[in-house]
Amino acid sequence: MTANRLLLATVPATLMVVTLFGANGAEQRLTALATNGDVRLMLGRIGPALPYVLSGTVGVFFLFAAAGAVHVKAAGWSVATGSAVAVFMAAAREAIRLSALSAAGHSVLSLADPAAMFGALMALLTGFFALRVAVKGNSAFLRGSPLRIRGKRAVHGEAEWMSMRDAQRLFPDTGGIVVGERYRVDRDSVSAMAFRAQSKESWGAGGRSPLLCFDGSFGSGHGIAFAGSGGFKTTSVTIPTALKWDGGLVVLDPSLEVAPMVIEHRRKAGRNVVVLDPANSATGFNALDWIGRFGATKEEDIVAVATWVMTDNRRQPSARDDFFRASALQLLTALIADVCLSGHTGPRDQTLRQVRINLSEPEPKLRERLTQIHQQSASGFVKENVAVFVNMTPETFSGVYANAVKETHWLSYPNYAALVSGDAFTTDDLANGGTDLFIALDLKVLGAHPGLARVIIGALMNAIYNRKGNVASKTLFMLDEVARLGYLSILETARDAGRKYGLTLMMIFQSIGQMREAYGGRDATSKWFESASWISFAAINDPDTADYISRRCGDTTVEVDQVSRTSQTSGSSRSRSKHLYRRPLILPDEVMRMRSDEQIIFTAGNLPLRCGRAVWFRRDDMTACVDRNRYHWREDEA
Ligand SMILES: Nc1ncnc2c1ncn2[C@@H]1O[C@H](COP(=O)(O)OP(=O)(O)OP(=O)(O)O)[C@@H](O)[C@H]1O
Ligand SMILES: [Mg+2]
Repeated sequence: MTANRLLLATVPATLMVVTLFGANGAEQRLTALATNGDVRLMLGRIGPALPYVLSGTVGVFFLFAAAGAVHVKAAGWSVATGSAVAVFMAAAREAIRLSALSAAGHSVLSLADPAAMFGALMALLTGFFALRVAVKGNSAFLRGSPLRIRGKRAVHGEAEWMSMRDAQRLFPDTGGIVVGERYRVDRDSVSAMAFRAQSKESWGAGGRSPLLCFDGSFGSGHGIAFAGSGGFKTTSVTIPTALKWDGGLVVLDPSLEVAPMVIEHRRKAGRNVVVLDPANSATGFNALDWIGRFGATKEEDIVAVATWVMTDNRRQPSARDDFFRASALQLLTALIADVCLSGHTGPRDQTLRQVRINLSEPEPKLRERLTQIHQQSASGFVKENVAVFVNMTPETFSGVYANAVKETHWLSYPNYAALVSGDAFTTDDLANGGTDLFIALDLKVLGAHPGLARVIIGALMNAIYNRKGNVASKTLFMLDEVARLGYLSILETARDAGRKYGLTLMMIFQSIGQMREAYGGRDATSKWFESASWISFAAINDPDTADYISRRCGDTTVEVDQVSRTSQTSGSSRSRSKHLYRRPLILPDEVMRMRSDEQIIFTAGNLPLRCGRAVWFRRDDMTACVDRNRYHWREDEA
């Protein structure tokens, strides 16, 4: 117990009791002040109420002085105790006095002292207020909100938050994707203070409330979460879900935070967990091993791989750039096709590493090779793609070549090439269920070589997609910091067809702007919004996003009383009127001021849900299965 809390718990009660006894007998002193008989009589009448009223006033003063303090609940209990003593005293005194009088044969109640009863009532009311503070904490002091109108007169709309009962029905805790916690943060005792990860006092009911989980029972199954930087995205979405999801799992884990924390738990559940980490190049898989299997044509798959290697963006480049990029893409397609289809590369060497080795030969040698491919390849597709380069002028070829080399640059790092050209596991392992993958590329690598993560995710996703739903279990792709990958068309394919094919996406962004940047403008963003089963917003810092949320939550009708006064020489008049106004359910600035452990979740066809977030380190059930992590220094330090 901190000193602060100890003081708040003891001082109010002590002062109230001291006041109570100190003011005892005040009526005699008070009546002594009176100069005439009437005043003396009056003072004598109200005197008995004085100790209780004074003691209650002291209590109420304390409560208001302590409002906003972390330990205000302690003060509430303390004042409640003080009030209980006062009420008890008043009752005991009256009882003693009345029992003496009733012996004389009078009716007891007619003799009760109204002043003493009034004093006791005041003490009782103070006690009730104190109990409210003790239970609700700082939210007991919150000012009321405007009067919301429902029914016939709700002309501007009657938007509402989803009730917790409906939330439970929509997100039962049997689901695998952790969405949040079932409690209203804005009605919690700590709603008035900010959420601090380090101070448990600011957590309130968070961590002790039941989980809200999504079981994929409605919509496409995909989820999108938005939260600002440092807005508890990893701690409240990725980690809880990585602990709870029991099917195949692929996590883009940009700072290698999640894997070490959940790996033990998942292995104990019988899952084979692979961490794709550039520091450990023995863990790689062959990103071309799925090409042309399960009925898909090899050529299309090869073009897809080439587009992942080349980071494409939705911005319109100039025509000249466009030509060189398109030609570089074709060159790359031709070389991948050559490795996979021409028949002169052994199955073990059919990898992206080999493609890069072929590409990075000196320019004249490469041209020679291309001519050779054109003449000898067994594949018509390869021949057709190579044909353009055979007679290209050396200057133009140089430009194309430079572009292709630049885009595949990351394949020349042995450890990155190893990740997509290894044989530690196959994409079949993932598609068959039982294997989990953590893609641990740090943010710097992700920023500098987005192609690497794109190829990994693209290959894994296509390996499942090509099976056309013939998979053992659903696979969840949980993509933290997904905007770093840039525009990836396979994600859009997975979005639209994922449900049928056993693919579930969980994408985490920092803001709507970041999503627009990657997927291009409003239209693309709204396509994502309309196809996600649920979208969560938390820790919003961006006014545009706040505006969107406020608009999407809808409007309510509020009734406002207005009084107008007019004064003229002939006299003054006062008129009272009631007006109905439109007010959004939540204003943009209120969205930005929400506690960072609070979120708003939208689902199609339901009311917006305002609830808590499942930050793992607040929950005992999760801390029990998470391994000691690098953040523990905070606790050691504290
Ligand atoms: N075990 C823990 N105990 C207390 N605080 C923690 C713990 N783990 C993480 N935090 C706090 O959580 C906060 C951010 O968590 P998180 O990594 O989820 O944010 P994020 O939104 O993923 O951030 P980023 O945008 O950097 O990825 C940090 O302030 C960190 O101090
Ligand atoms: Mg994070």
